[in-house]
Amino acid sequence: NHTLQEHTMQPLIFHLGRDPGEKQPIRDICPILKEPKVLAAVIDLLEEHARQNHPETELIVGLDARGFLFGPLLAQRLGVGFVLVRKKGKLPGPTLSVAYTLEYAMAEVEIQADAVQPGQNVLVIDDLLATGGTLYAACELLKKQRAQVLGCLVVMELKDLHGAEKLPVPVFSLLQA
Ligand code: PRP
Ligand code: MG
Repeated sequence: NHTLQEHTMQPLIFHLGRDPGEKQPIRDICPILKEPKVLAAVIDLLEEHARQNHPETELIVGLDARGFLFGPLLAQRLGVGFVLVRKKGKLPGPTLSVAYTLEYAMAEVEIQADAVQPGQNVLVIDDLLATGGTLYAACELLKKQRAQVLGCLVVMELKDLHGAEKLPVPVFSLLQA
């Protein structure tokens, strides 16, 4: 029954508009990681959401790179494994890949071909949902592996970009901007 605000003092989490000269506010997760109590509170809330809404979770899938900062901690709490979705060319062995569009370019994400079993229940985690392109590509990868994607978890969601509407599963975000 706790909120992130109660736990952690929201201003510490994301330094919004840290530089007044910047047109775009800066969204920086580094302060979360630097403060052990804040990081623990973030993982508490993600754990609580996962336990309450997705108790059948068998695997956490995290996105390169900043999803790796939160995913393994959550997976440990839940007592499940962690699987990496990486940017192209980083994973050894046979992989599956999906290309996606960034603001000014294309990118490609990969997963090891044997990382997820067909039908396995997975939650996908990243730090930020912006346009949704990255999480969408990860969901496509998991679809190729015939995994059951239960939902996506992010620390921060940029609501104005409507990324959640693009995704095939519900998104849970701790903070919205
Ligand atoms: C950032 C962020 C998310 C993604 C969100 O990753 O960490 O993964 O963008 O944007 P989207 O919803 O528009 O796809 P980025 O690839 O910039 O860098 P990273 O390797 O530091 O995670
Ligand atoms: Mg990222």
